[in-house]
Amino acid sequence: MRVLGIETSCDETAAAVVTEKKEVLSHVVFSQIESHKIFGGVVPEIGARAHLEKIQDVIEQTMKEANLEFQDLDAIAATCGPGLIGGVLVGAVTGKSIAAYHQKPFIAVNHLEAHALSVRLTEDVGFPYLLLLVSGGHCQMFHVKHLGVYEILGGTLDDAVGETFDKVARLLGLPYPGGPAVEHCALTGDETRFSFPRPLLAQKNYDFSFSGLKTAVLREVEKQGPSLEENKPHIAASFQKAVADIFLNRLDRAMTTLPHLKTVVIAGGVAANQYLQGHLQALVASKDKRLVAPPLKYCTDNGAMVAWAGLEHWRLGHQDPLTFAPRPRWPLGSV
Ligand code: KG4
Ligand code: ZN
Repeated sequence: MRVLGIETSCDETAAAVVTEKKEVLSHVVFSQIESHKIFGGVVPEIGARAHLEKIQDVIEQTMKEANLEFQDLDAIAATCGPGLIGGVLVGAVTGKSIAAYHQKPFIAVNHLEAHALSVRLTEDVGFPYLLLLVSGGHCQMFHVKHLGVYEILGGTLDDAVGETFDKVARLLGLPYPGGPAVEHCALTGDETRFSFPRPLLAQKNYDFSFSGLKTAVLREVEKQGPSLEENKPHIAASFQKAVADIFLNRLDRAMTTLPHLKTVVIAGGVAANQYLQGHLQALVASKDKRLVAPPLKYCTDNGAMVAWAGLEHWRLGHQDPLTFAPRPRWPLGSV
């Protein structure tokens, strides 16, 4: 069983072919970072145009590297939301067109579900598991009960965590995307130098809030003036430590409330952060549980996770009509 997956919901034009035996036959990602860099963030209209320009090349290269023709595929999967709707439309329409022309089943993939299931492509992870989904647009915790059954435990009340990394990077004059830049800058910093808030931790739930933390970093940067340059690594490290403490607190709570969940999964772009992974690993191991994160190349947006999510649904007999409407919002709890 071979499935082509197409991903265009943010700033990566990506495609991959994945098999039921968990082989990734090809995996092509074209990053639009250069187009958005000068704006310090993703500009939706520029993104949509860039997806349109690149999608055909990316899919042709994917098929070539897999050494396959479209007829050899069993199904076509494409991200149909949530995301920047201009980009989502490009991938969804392309996927539907290939499916229609070659008379293949089409599967409309929820981008968050693709992140949620991505570890099952590379690791032996069974249901149920606890999931921390942390990306540029999301920060949510789920009890993943089964394929398609995602109970949301909590989520951010304001900014997403990746978005916060991107904003902090901009405040510090670091390049976009901010996550890797902040992580790198923090390597030489003292994480105890500045005391930033850890919002909501007194609340006995699983919610997150990052806007107060972001504002505290802004105030500190304003206060620094000329000494900003020398204190940048310390600010980056202290910010990252605050994020780690927030994650640890919420996860600890969830592991205590749901003790039967033996596996904890971290997914989404922010899961690429090795410092955060290290802290989570220590906590999870101390509770005799297993932390699983996708390999770095499948943390950030990619076609393999979309193909895999499509494959998981398709092998249970699920497919979608070509009239399936792409959507900017599509909460995971409703899949
Ligand atoms: O999952 P993703 O590729 O796209 C969305 O679905 O949003 O996540 C992108 C986000 C960006 O905000 C980026 O700054 C963040 O993931 N990110 C990181 C790291 N690598 C990417 N955040 C923290 N540390 C990293 N190493
Ligand atoms: Zn994503």
